[in-house]
Amino acid sequence: MSKMKEPIVVLENVHLEREEDKILRNINWTVFPGEHWAIIGQNAAGKTLLLKIIATYLWPTSGSVEVLGEEFGSIELHKLRQKISWISSALEQELPQNQSVIEVVLSGYFSTLRLFDKPTKQIVQRARKLLQLMGLNSHEQQIFETLSVGEKKKGLIVRAMIRKPRLLILDEVCAGLDPIARRRFINSLRRLVHKKSNITILYVTHHLEEIFPEITHVLGLKNGKVAFSGKKQDQLNQKNMNSLFGSKAKLRKKNQTYYLDIF
Ligand SMILES: Nc1ncnc2c1ncn2[C@@H]1O[C@H](COP(=O)(O)OP(=O)(O)OP(=O)(O)O)[C@@H](O)[C@H]1O
Ligand SMILES: [Mg+2]
Repeated sequence: MSKMKEPIVVLENVHLEREEDKILRNINWTVFPGEHWAIIGQNAAGKTLLLKIIATYLWPTSGSVEVLGEEFGSIELHKLRQKISWISSALEQELPQNQSVIEVVLSGYFSTLRLFDKPTKQIVQRARKLLQLMGLNSHEQQIFETLSVGEKKKGLIVRAMIRKPRLLILDEVCAGLDPIARRRFINSLRRLVHKKSNITILYVTHHLEEIFPEITHVLGLKNGKVAFSGKKQDQLNQKNMNSLFGSKAKLRKKNQTYYLDIF
């Protein structure tokens, strides 16, 4: 296999147990470069835990995990973590108060919550470019917690991107956004995907309409098991939606966007 096509993620027979509960069962999943995946499934299906394993923050009970060509157990995790960025609402709550947007972004470069180190001019320039890409350039000096919910999420994406991650894991990042802010946010993500072609996005959502056109594949999780996985246009079908969400779920597709109506 050529280096270019080396998979980004390979999970084989991954199991995760907690206090005798089987939380993830027999997960097999491969993500190749150039793919972007949506991960869908009801509450408690195991989506967040699965991604925590990939982000190296959780060890499976059994099975093998390979991320960016590195097999867990044989590597220094902090080096691998440099190449993976994870965004969830938990991070937002952990950030210390009274930092400007640019400080929050730059602290991401050093993997610290507060900015202690002095960044180089190049890093600051890169931060400004990314802020511009996400439409946040006029907010650079604003105190981070005074940003709107949507602006904060964009700020966190910029913070995650500053280290040039190969893998960007987004866990319900649109929760709390109004419909317009959500659309804008997703458009910024799409711009990012176009600009940074070597990044792979794993995108957890409860809303099919967030599965933007650049997302190529979908993984459906149910009760800790893979219900389906593969190309988006094959997997987002009525049968699979019924298996994941029950018989009252009706799939709709308009232009390139999917919707799920529950009757
Ligand atoms: N440390 C733990 N001990 C026992 N059970 C746990 C532990 N951590 C998570 N779980 C359980 O694992 C299951 C899967 O959790 P997970 O957070 O992955 O769900 P999810 O698919 O992300 O759901 P949601 O859509 O609500 O975020 C849940 O039932 C949760 O309660
Ligand atoms: Mg979750």
